[in-house]
Amino acid sequence: MSTQAPKRYSPLWVTLHWVIALLIFAAFYLGISTEGIPLVEKVGYLRWHMPLGFTVLALMLVRLFVRWRTPHPEAATVGNALLDKIGEWTHYLLYIFAILMPLTGLVLSATFNLAPVVFGGQGSLPRELSPMLHGLIDPLLALLILLHILAALYHQFIRKDNLLARMWYGK
Ligand code: HEM
Ligand code: HEM
Repeated sequence: MSTQAPKRYSPLWVTLHWVIALLIFAAFYLGISTEGIPLVEKVGYLRWHMPLGFTVLALMLVRLFVRWRTPHPEAATVGNALLDKIGEWTHYLLYIFAILMPLTGLVLSATFNLAPVVFGGQGSLPRELSPMLHGLIDPLLALLILLHILAALYHQFIRKDNLLARMWYGK
């Protein structure tokens, strides 16, 4: 079965990987920008942050489906069983946290009934608004992404195995 594994990710998968990565970075930027600013100014950021974050959730579910239904390359190796396991688990955790992040955002929005304020211009944000679980998940996802980027750079520039090419278009 392993001999049938493709050498690289499919174009659909590659597109999903990079579009989602860009959206997550943008969601982080907009989310962090809301920290410590007056509630009236927060609305402007949340008007973009919330739909953008929701798009991440929708695309992550598509990606999960693609992962489940289509063949993908064998897990990359650095020649060390423990590091390979960490790499594999980082990928699983990235899926879990990139889904939990927008999910907890939705819970946050529902708890404080934010949609009418943010999208309907009705009333103002509640004074007691706090990021709750959303704010706890955020540093964990950031840490995983950092680890993931460092691993990609390690493959590319230290092991020089050109792993990035697997997550790009080509034959
Ligand atoms: C990948 C998706 C997302 C990322 C990376 C993300 C990231 C963040 C970050 C870093 C913050 C600042 C947290 C803090 O103050 O400690 C934040 C705040 C917030 N996010 Fe998200 N978020 C995402 C999706 C969503 C979604 C889907 C919603 C709702 C539909 C949402 C609603 C909010 C709200 C309301 C705040 C402000 C909380 C406050 O000011 O107390 N987020 N987000
Ligand atoms: C928000 C950002 C990101 C997330 C959530 C993410 C998530 C993932 C996941 C889960 C995989 C495993 C393949 C899959 O199941 O889809 C993967 C593969 C990959 N990612 Fe990322 N990624 C992000 C950003 C980046 C960045 C910035 C780089 C480049 C520095 C990168 C480089 C790669 C590479 C090279 C692979 C292929 C690894 C292999 O072939 O085993 N990723 N990414």
